Amino acid sequence: MFEVDYVPAVVPLFYLRVCINRRLNTDNLPNCAGRGSRELADRLEKQMIAESLPTKVLRGPCMNNCQIGPNIKIQAGEMLNLNCDVSDASFEAVMASIRAEVQKRKDAAVAAEPL
Ligand code: FES
Repeated sequence: MFEVDYVPAVVPLFYLRVCINRRLNTDNLPNCAGRGSRELADRLEKQMIAESLPTKVLRGPCMNNCQIGPNIKIQAGEMLNLNCDVSDASFEAVMASIRAEVQKRKDAAVAAEPL
């Protein structure tokens, strides 16, 4: 027998993809990392862990919506364009969307269970 704590695997209900692209800015276009998306991804991840939400953050490349970033995509769900706003209010709005999506998927899973 192994002398380690057993940690059950948690399969996320969905992924939250956060654009963390940083441009070299030779073209003077905005980019999500330049608007704080990397710090935002860390903060979202910490909050989701603190609330035990069954989701995971994926840090990803450009989503071609650079003008209205930072951009966040709920997998198979809502696209959130923060439009330069990484304030606490905006963070809370993103968290509210994540909580709503978790609840929606949990409800759908219960409804799909056989009687
Ligand atoms: S840099 Fe984030 S969408 Fe393009």
